[in-house]
Amino acid sequence: MLCEVKTLFFCVLTAYVTSQVVGVEEKQRNECADVKNTTWTGYRQRNVKLQVQYLLLTRRNMDCAQRFSQESLTKQPSYFNNSLPIKVIIHGYRVLGNKPSWLKELALALLRAQDVNVLVVDWVYGTSFAYNLVVENYKEVSVQISVLINQLQKHGCKLESFHFIGVSLGAHVAGFVGTLFAGKIGRITGLDPAGPMFKGADTFDRLDPSDAQFVDAIHTDSDYFGISIPVGHVDFFLNGGKDQTGCAHSRFASMYGYVICDHMRAVHVYMSALNGSCPLQGIPCFTYEDFLKGNCVNCDIFRGTCPTIGLSENCGITASPVPKEQKLFLLTTSSPPFCAHHILLELEVSPLSKSAEVEVTLRTENLGTNKRLRLQTAMTVYRTVLAHPVALCKIYSIQLKNTGAWFYRQGDIHVKSVCLSEFPALRREEPLCVNNINIRRGAPWSHDFVQVCLFCRF
Ligand SMILES: *[C@@H]1O[C@H](CO)[C@@H](O)[C@H](O)[C@H]1NC(C)=O
Ligand SMILES: *[C@@H]1O[C@H](CO)[C@@H](O)[C@H](O)[C@H]1NC(C)=O
Ligand SMILES: *[C@@H]1O[C@H](CO)[C@@H](O)[C@H](O)[C@H]1NC(C)=O
Repeated sequence: MLCEVKTLFFCVLTAYVTSQVVGVEEKQRNECADVKNTTWTGYRQRNVKLQVQYLLLTRRNMDCAQRFSQESLTKQPSYFNNSLPIKVIIHGYRVLGNKPSWLKELALALLRAQDVNVLVVDWVYGTSFAYNLVVENYKEVSVQISVLINQLQKHGCKLESFHFIGVSLGAHVAGFVGTLFAGKIGRITGLDPAGPMFKGADTFDRLDPSDAQFVDAIHTDSDYFGISIPVGHVDFFLNGGKDQTGCAHSRFASMYGYVICDHMRAVHVYMSALNGSCPLQGIPCFTYEDFLKGNCVNCDIFRGTCPTIGLSENCGITASPVPKEQKLFLLTTSSPPFCAHHILLELEVSPLSKSAEVEVTLRTENLGTNKRLRLQTAMTVYRTVLAHPVALCKIYSIQLKNTGAWFYRQGDIHVKSVCLSEFPALRREEPLCVNNINIRRGAPWSHDFVQVCLFCRF
């Protein structure tokens, strides 16, 4: 009898354990967690208050997010592994209350790049519709996140193993979490950190380098939704940080094209960098204008290694101390993987009697890059930076065209030399130069390069 009871007990126990395991797997298979969304009517009717929930994605559940909370650490079986680093994604303001379309792709890109826990902070309930009210909510979100982090610390997670990736307003949410932990969090990455209501704010209220051991930021819309001042140890300003190539800048373009394309470019470039198909390196410079004039062509202040967008420690900076609020500039192409080669064009002409205009075209197969240069009478040397999709050693030809309008009565231009070089140079690469050319109106001059391309980068 006793034996039977024991057996029965064992059976029940086994059944219970099995059902628990099956239950979890069933649940995870059938009920993937998702970000909450809301609509304007829903928002009005329910008077939606701030609600924060967390979704967990790991390499073991890449297809199906699991809801995550403090209880997940003790009561429920969870995919969370406290010996792996933790990436926390925080989205920003949601105008229309819908879920961010890039969330899943960003989480997957992180998981493909590193074996980590990805926690998505969903605060769509509380971040939609009225921007000023949302801004009031953001610190409350940070406080709620800090409560979870305290719990995670009790379960063996170290503050330095947290890396927050905050998009737009989410960057400042991450910044305030960092403030609450006195800058001991490992890293914060701001993807076009929000500008409106933050630019003039105290560093207590916005993302700044004191918020984590390392803070990096990518700026793509600093004249509109993004912030124009540096907020990290390093700040990458893509194409100057304001207007992005391939984004429509006309009122007549689609809503997306006009309103949000520049702002969201930071997220797409970051995902591309995580995919790792080509390096996106920033060049330190004081202003974008200086950068475009070719006044900054190396990373000597970082011992020659240019900071790179992505997950490498301190963006690859080995120099110490790590700088603060260092502006970095780079040009990109208009579509993934976005990497461009920076080509420095140096043109020297004989003194002109009238101002003139030349168009320079670089060609590689069907790819062409154009640049128009206005030439002044008082100047003979011109330097400018171009973004070409492939490396210098793959450039087939250079073409110069004398394009000044007829009424300028522009004459011939005597070019003493035109030189191309790529920067930052990996090794000593001689510039490609052509000397002593006369370009007449209506008669474009072109020159084919015969290059042996042995060590081409991407
Ligand atoms: C939220 O998104 C789901 C799909 O992800 C959709 O079926 C549902 O209608 C949406 N709800 C609201 C309130 O927009
Ligand atoms: C957690 O991660 C560690 C380090 O990669 C690994 O050794 C361990 O097997 C993982 N635990 C589980 C339950 O997957
Ligand atoms: C990254 O790679 C994945 C898989 O190879 C691809 O589906 C995705 O479009 C890529 N994303 C970007 C931004 O390049």
